[in-house]
This record gives sequence, C-alpha cells and structure tokens, in this order.
Amino acid sequence: MVSYLNMSNQKPVLLSGIKPTGDLHIGNYFGAMRQLTELSATNKYKCFIFVADYHALNTMQDADEMKKRTRELVMAYLAVGLNPDNVVFFKQSDVPAHTELAWIFDAITTMPYLMRAHAFKDAEARSKEISVGTFNYPMLMAADILLYDTDVVPVGQDQKQHIEIARDTAEKFNRTYKTEIFKLPEPYILPDVAVVPGTDGQKMSKSYGNVIPLFVSRDELAKCVMSIVTDSSCARPENVYAIHKLVRNEAELAPMYAENEGNYKALKEILIEDLDNYFKGMRAKYDELKNDSNIVGKVLAKGREEAIAVSSAKMSLVRSAIGVS
Ligand code: ADP
Ligand code: TRP
Repeated sequence: MVSYLNMSNQKPVLLSGIKPTGDLHIGNYFGAMRQLTELSATNKYKCFIFVADYHALNTMQDADEMKKRTRELVMAYLAVGLNPDNVVFFKQSDVPAHTELAWIFDAITTMPYLMRAHAFKDAEARSKEISVGTFNYPMLMAADILLYDTDVVPVGQDQKQHIEIARDTAEKFNRTYKTEIFKLPEPYILPDVAVVPGTDGQKMSKSYGNVIPLFVSRDELAKCVMSIVTDSSCARPENVYAIHKLVRNEAELAPMYAENEGNYKALKEILIEDLDNYFKGMRAKYDELKNDSNIVGKVLAKGREEAIAVSSAKMSLVRSAIGVS
C-alpha cells in the first residue's frame, strides 16, 4: 500500500472552519476562537483556518448578508489576535477542491450512515424539508479536513461527531482505493470550556437567543448580563458564576461570591465590569479594522493562494487514485 502523506511537513497540521452565519458571541470565543488564536501563536502547528461559507449557504441565502458576515468574521478573528502571518486564513468557496472532494466522498458514503448524524436528526426533527446540502454537510466538512492532512481539529463539543465522520470517511476512501492518501484527524476539545452556557443556563447559541455578543458596547453588555436567569433558591447564581469563571479565576471569585451571597445584582455588576475589561481591547481593534477597507481582501487573497497550492496537490493524488486524472 502506498502512503502519500506529506512527510516533508514537519509540524502537525491544525485546521478549523467557522461559518459566517451570525453575530459572534462569547460562546464562540471561549469555545473556538480563543483556542485557535492561542494554538496558532504557539508556532507548534501548521495552521489552516477558513470561513466555511459553503456550509453557511444551507441557512443563509442572501448575497449581501453573506458578504457582510464573511467580512465581519475575518475582522473578528484578526481582532481577537489571530496573526495572518501564522496561519493560512482563507475562504472555503475560494478553493474548489473542497466541493470536488465532497462529491467524491458522497459516492463512497451510504445514506443510512449519514442519517445517523446528530445534526441531521436535529434538523429533521425541526423540519421535514431539509436541504440535500444539510444532509451532506458532514461530507463537505470531511473534505475540508482531509484535504490538508490535518492532525488536529479544534472545535466545540457539538462538532465532535463530524470529526468522527471525517475519520470514517478517510478510512473508507483508503480502504476502497487501497491507498493511504488520507490521514485520520483528531478532535481537540478543551474540557472546561466545552460548553459555554447562555443567559438562560442552556448552551449559548445564536439559535436560542441567549447570547452575550462579542463586540458590543458596555451598555449592551450590561443589558445581556442583567437578563441572566437566576434561581432564587440557590446561594450562588450558577448561571452568572458559570460565565464569570471564564473571565476571572475561581480563587478570586470564591470570596467575592461569598461576600455578595444572595445579592445577584451586585454580582452581575461585577461580571459586567469584568467582561467589559476582558473584551475592551478586542472591541477597539475590531472598530479599527472596520475602517480599513483593504485588510480583509488582502488576508484572504494570501490564504487562498496557499490553500489552493496544498489542496491541488492532494487532489492530484485523489484524482489519480480514483482513475479520473
Ligand atoms: P451557534 O451555536 O451560536 O450557532 P456555531 O454553531 O456557529 O454557534 O459555532 C461556531 C463555533 O463555536 C463551533 O466551533 C462551536 O462548537 C463553538 N461554540 C458555539 N457555541 C458554543 C458554546 N456555547 N460553548 C462552546 N463552544 C461553542
Ligand atoms: N461545522 C463547523 C461548525 O458548525 C464549521 C466547519 C466547517 C468546520 N468545516 C469545518 C470546523 C472543518 C472544523 C473543521 O462550527
């Protein structure tokens, strides 16, 4: 069996994608963006980070909104500290190999297998009219990951099954075509921030309307924090505390919460102050980037070039393995 894995690349490959589908919230930040930024700064990985705009197409079918959200997402990553010199930062739709490989994976994957995916079951439970793209979502995601010989994929807990599907798909392809073209990726999930709770205590998500947005003014931040649901039967307001411990260490929080036992308003005010301090610098950077009309295009053009070079080399091997070269 011939192995085509790229041995010349010394560093392990890290890859992640994010959909440009909504205003970013602190769940996105603590669950994905912070890790990505920190991991890419360690210089231990070759990093690929991309805007998953073709994944977003399933739920967002408005050209102006797609453009706006894509731009905002790139600026957001730059604002939280991602250095475009350390990563290949690109747009999925700029690299045709992603959709090409997804089609090839479609051909070796069965419907009953994809019907077991949680995301599909959730979508089906909500609506019977789900798109083929929603059903196929894991195939495009497998292509995203496998094209770059990815070792680790930093994502939130909810994406773990998609990485397992990518692994299964890599194995299936390798077995079907008696090759070792694809490497098996691993998820990278930080356990203590795996699920950031929202203002109502369940997972923070734009679909639940319980978010604390990432780049908002202190006033808006205060409004969100004041709306955090508290349970008067507990000494400690757990929903406030769960968010608070993301921005301040628990040794400092313990005396503060003891001193203000039962005084939820005071604790929320401290949380507003702490969140504001934590995100202030990033918000300022974001505002600065908004005034730079060239930066997003420049970053994405550079990323596109490198992503195309790497993915095209992989596709030559794939095309040859399946007999279409
Ligand atoms: P949303 O749930 O608001 O639609 P997305 O599905 O767009 O968020 O998530 C983008 C990224 O942020 C994913 O990696 C996801 O796992 C992570 N993420 C989103 N919400 C949370 C959360 N509450 N806690 C931890 N990570 C999260
Ligand atoms: N499905 C991911 C999400 O909803 C986004 C995504 C698309 C992704 N392709 C990826 C994440 C590849 C990691 C690797 O957040």
